[in-house]
Amino acid sequence: MKIVRSIREIKSELIRCRNKGRAVGFVPTMGYLHEGHLSLIRKARQDNDVVVVSIFVNPTQFGPDEDYGEYPRDLRRDARLCKKSGADYMFHPTVKSMYPKEYSTFISVEGLTKNLCGKFRPGYFRGVATVVAKLFNIVKPDVAYFGQKDAQQSIVIKRMTEDLDMGIRVEVMPTVREKDGLAMSSRNSYLSSDERKRAVTIYRALQLARDLIKLDDKDARGIIREMRKMLAPVATKIDYVSIVDPHTLKDVKTITGEVLVAVAVWIGATRLIDNILTRY
Ligand code: PAJ
Repeated sequence: MKIVRSIREIKSELIRCRNKGRAVGFVPTMGYLHEGHLSLIRKARQDNDVVVVSIFVNPTQFGPDEDYGEYPRDLRRDARLCKKSGADYMFHPTVKSMYPKEYSTFISVEGLTKNLCGKFRPGYFRGVATVVAKLFNIVKPDVAYFGQKDAQQSIVIKRMTEDLDMGIRVEVMPTVREKDGLAMSSRNSYLSSDERKRAVTIYRALQLARDLIKLDDKDARGIIREMRKMLAPVATKIDYVSIVDPHTLKDVKTITGEVLVAVAVWIGATRLIDNILTRY
């Protein structure tokens, strides 16, 4: 596996691969890799001739009061895990090369970013869409792999690739969880042991929603109320508990088909998100 920092170098390496007709699979990440990331890398390995993983903590998707500075980083470990999972290239550009002083172009995906995390993290999806578009232009993959864990992000990126005719297939892979159900996240490393125990309630609340829906409960507001009751004692703050249409991400009142049940809560100073897709 090759570790590449320069944009020019990764471009020229990949031009050579593509000229040989090799399919390129791409996994964009912010590093501090865990099994969730690795599941995407392994899938990319299965499906493609060349696998590129990017590790870039993207400053434009963090708000001024968010954790850009503290975001966990461990490049050596990431490199080892990338290699072990089958990556051919680990692309790790500098902030300066991605966003030089004169940088001025941003991508905004409208509509889909109004609800859920878009409501609570202004500018977040603008930063995500911009960096992903930039990485897509550098890597020019055939397929890119994203996680269901960040459901809204995956949908926004799919929309962007279609709207801008990028010709890249976006594959969304299932959420990888800890044994007790907590969705894996680089931010779980912020949790104290007490917070870690409390965090499992997020998945339990999602399971409660799934059970109620299976038991014929169609009333989204009632289900959300029950979920909030469950989360209130463990969450420091609840950003949202929502039941939305999985395509439009608009709130659903009466559940008649497939829905996305999505949660964002603060456990101590850590903001965690999770979701499940379920159907009536
Ligand atoms: P990051 O949080 O590092 O996640 C990289 C990819 O891994 C995303 O597609 C995310 O959905 C997926 N992922 C994270 N946890 C997962 C889990 N438990 N199971 C399955 N997949 C999981 O998301 C980002 O980085 C950034 O916003 C990025 C797209 C790289 C743009 O900067």
